[in-house]
Amino acid sequence: MIDAQVRAVLEELEAWGERNDRSEADRSRKMLNLERETAELIRALVVPRKARRILEIGTSNGYSAIWLAASISEEGRVISIDRNAGKTAMARANLDRAGLSERVELITGDATELVTKLDGPFDLIFFDADRFSAPEQLAVLLPKLSQEVLLLADNVLSHPAEIAGYLAALATLSDFERTVVPVGKGLSVAYRLAD
Ligand SMILES: C[S@@+](CC[C@H](N)C(=O)[O-])C[C@H]1O[C@@H](n2cnc3c(N)ncnc32)[C@H](O)[C@@H]1O
Repeated sequence: MIDAQVRAVLEELEAWGERNDRSEADRSRKMLNLERETAELIRALVVPRKARRILEIGTSNGYSAIWLAASISEEGRVISIDRNAGKTAMARANLDRAGLSERVELITGDATELVTKLDGPFDLIFFDADRFSAPEQLAVLLPKLSQEVLLLADNVLSHPAEIAGYLAALATLSDFERTVVPVGKGLSVAYRLAD
């Protein structure tokens, strides 16, 4: 079970994010957090996999990073990237309040550039930033994936044109199985099993 401290932070972020995004006209100041039901599905996928090394592209204020960090063991690690330093600072504060900052490394910068510098292997990648860059990021990350790996991407139903390139790139990977789950804004789920 997610502990009470984490649950309280998540519930507070959901209420605050909804109010903020409704009143904030500047898109860069919106939090654009995952819908709760998508986060719950991601948790259901992550917990039984026992993923140890997770990469998240698109941290915002840390809502989904908290879900990911709360779904892995103490030895597991999440690396999360966002180009907006203000949001990274908010994420750091929120992870601290949830008691999960030890499990999460936050990096500020352009994800397409940063992923070239990261060492794998990753057991799970969650793409939740600008959808256009995801195919290029995926190409760089392919050699850095564990054999058994899960690739998730949000916004398939809400931004079909923007995410089409990513889905087309996934379709070329013959060793992956894939589906789109119509939850929240639409979650792409692709996975490769052990040999
Ligand atoms: C949809 S929000 C992420 C929401 C977050 N995953 C959550 O559920 O709480 C997208 C974030 O990606 C960041 N972003 C967009 N394009 C990026 C890029 N090329 N490199 C790094 N961050 C990027 C934005 O600053 C924004 O905070």
